[in-house]
Amino acid sequence: MITIATVLYITVNSKPEHLSTSKTVGRIFIDKYKQLHSDDTIEELDLYRDDIPRVNYKLFTSRATLVHGEEFEKLSDDEKNQVTRINQLCDQFLKADKYVIAAPMWNVFFPSMLKQYLDCIIQNGKVINVDTANKKVEGLLDNKIRKMVYIQSSGGDIPLLLSRKVNHGLTYLHDIFKFLGIKKFDKILVEGVDMKSIGREQAIQNAIEDIDDMIDYF
Ligand SMILES: Cc1cc2nc3c(=O)[nH]c(=O)nc-3n(C[C@H](O)[C@H](O)[C@H](O)COP(=O)(O)O)c2cc1C
Repeated sequence: MITIATVLYITVNSKPEHLSTSKTVGRIFIDKYKQLHSDDTIEELDLYRDDIPRVNYKLFTSRATLVHGEEFEKLSDDEKNQVTRINQLCDQFLKADKYVIAAPMWNVFFPSMLKQYLDCIIQNGKVINVDTANKKVEGLLDNKIRKMVYIQSSGGDIPLLLSRKVNHGLTYLHDIFKFLGIKKFDKILVEGVDMKSIGREQAIQNAIEDIDDMIDYF
């Protein structure tokens, strides 16, 4: 049976693609993916270009629950637009089967816009279930097979043994996506971009080899 998947490609960088290593490798990944799955739908979200609301207490009734009904009607037009946009982003995320996130490492994490986006889309009743009575929070994304790949460029080359201690963006995304119910997590680390011994071109070449090793299974 042929299944048509929706891929959500998320980038987090103000640089144009040709200047950004993470976006360059992300594009290489997407182009190779398209060659293998020409019928799939690719949606692109640029977290620096597209509107990502800030989490504002007025938009939520309680933890991760957006206002609705009468409470919604009391909001200003601008606040209503933000609630609508957050819902749109959440629905787009839910619809996807596969996620490709391309980001640079910034101070051992990823740029804050990605966290702002995750705080918008991880909503109670849609992505998680917050059960206050039983003091339990559970992910709801295991209702279909979802896959994700995190493409991260970094100036340094982080030894595997130090990864858990230094690579906080990678560790966090792995843990949160697993918690949400996304079982398959891959990574492409574009490392040593700013090091004389490796450099941008070599780091991209190494990443292309890693992509070629895994793309058939994504
Ligand atoms: C604000 C900032 C913080 C950075 N922090 C780190 C870091 O903690 N570790 C590291 O290896 N490289 C760090 N870098 C270097 C970038 O990760 C590296 O240049 C990367 O390739 C940039 O990808 P891009 O071209 O997609 O922006 C930092 C760069 C910037 C601008």
